[in-house]
Amino acid sequence: MPHFSGRISSKLPHVGTTIFTVMSRLAAEHNAINLSQGFPDFDCAQELRDLVTKYFNAGLNQYPPMAGVPRLREAIAEKVEFLYGARYDPEHEVTVVPGATYGIFTAVATFIRSGDEVILFEPAYDCYVPAVEVMGGVPVFVELQYPDYGIDWARVQQAITPRTRMMIINTPNNPTASVLSGEDMRMLEGLLRKTDIVVVSDEVYEHIVFDGHQHQSVARFPGLAERSFLVSSFGKTYHVTGWKTGYVLAPRELTAEFRKVHQFNSFVANGPIQHVLAEYLQKRDAYLSLAAFYQGKRDLFLEGVKASRFHPLPSRGTFFQNLAYDAITDERDMDLAVRLTRERKVASIPVSVFYREPPAHRVLRFCFAKSDETLKRGAEILCKI
Ligand SMILES: Cc1ncc(COP(=O)(O)O)c(C=O)c1O
Repeated sequence: MPHFSGRISSKLPHVGTTIFTVMSRLAAEHNAINLSQGFPDFDCAQELRDLVTKYFNAGLNQYPPMAGVPRLREAIAEKVEFLYGARYDPEHEVTVVPGATYGIFTAVATFIRSGDEVILFEPAYDCYVPAVEVMGGVPVFVELQYPDYGIDWARVQQAITPRTRMMIINTPNNPTASVLSGEDMRMLEGLLRKTDIVVVSDEVYEHIVFDGHQHQSVARFPGLAERSFLVSSFGKTYHVTGWKTGYVLAPRELTAEFRKVHQFNSFVANGPIQHVLAEYLQKRDAYLSLAAFYQGKRDLFLEGVKASRFHPLPSRGTFFQNLAYDAITDERDMDLAVRLTRERKVASIPVSVFYREPPAHRVLRFCFAKSDETLKRGAEILCKI
C-alpha cells in the first residue's frame, strides 16, 4: 500500500466516522434490530423499479443537461406550485442535484467565505457544520428548546451580527422530529427583512408531517423565498435513499451563482434516474399518501412502547421518534445506545451527537421507517428495559 508521509493539516480535525456507520456496524455485529440509521428497511414501489428498467434501456445514458433534465425541472416546479402556491421558473430557478447533502454543501460553498458566520440550530443534522467549516465559515449555534425543540426567536435575533451571511433551517427536523409553524416562518421572515442573509432550507421530509399539520416551506413566504435555497430530495419521499437525487430551488440571482459551483463540482446528477422521477412525479398520490403511511408506523411504535419506562417526545414529522429515558438510568445516551445494542439487541442513535456541546438531556432517537414486524419486535424489547 502506498503511504503519505507528508504533513496533513486537516480541514475537519474533529470529524471521525459518523455515528450512523458506527451504530449500524454495531447492530450488525450483535444481530440487533436496527432502529438507528434513517432509511427504510423496505423497498420502493414496483412501478418505480419498472420505470428504471424502461429509462435505462431508452438510450439516455450520457450526460444530461447541467441544471437537470427539463421535464424533471418542469415537474418539480409544478409540484411546488401545487403544494405551496409559488411558481419557480424551471429554466432559471430549479436545479437537479445528486442529493440534498450535495445541494446544501454546494449552497454553502457558493456563498461562505473565511470568517462568515452561519446560524445553525442545535441539535443539527450532521452535514451542516462540516460544510460550513470546510469553507472557513464560523457556525453560530442557537439551541432548540427542549423538550419540544421549538425556536426562541429572541435568541436568533441576538445571534445575528454584521458577519452573519447565512442561516440553515430544517423542517421537519432531523433529529428532533419537530416542525416549524407558520408563525415561526413569519418570525423568521420579519427578522431577516432588510438583511442580506441567505437561508438554506432543508426540507427533505416535506411530505412527512403528521396530525393534519401542513408543511411550512419557505416557498410559501415571499420574504423567505426571495432569499432561500429550498433543498429537497427524492430519497425519503420515494423510499430510494440510495439514488441520491434531489433538487435546489432559488431565485434566479442565487441559482446563477449556485450553478457556477455545481457545474465544476458534480456537473450533473444521474440522467436516466431523472427521467424516472419526472414520470413518477405525475402520480401525486405517491407523495400525498406518505404522511399517513408514516403516521401509521409512528403510532404503531408508540403503541408498542406505551408500557415501557421510556417517555416519548412529540414526533410531528420525519420518520423518527425520540424517547427520553430519565426514568430508567443516569447513563450518558452514547453509553446507553451502545449497551442496548450489545445487550438488548436494539440499536438507536444518541441525540447528543447532534450537538457540539451536548446538554444533559437523556434522549435516544429511533427510526420507524421499518417493517411493522421489526417495529413491534423493537418495541417489545424496549418494554423490558
Ligand atoms: C435532514 C436531512 N437532510 C438531508 C439528508 C440527506 O439527503 P440526501 O440523501 O438526499 O443527500 C438527510 C438524510 O438523512 C436528512 O435527514
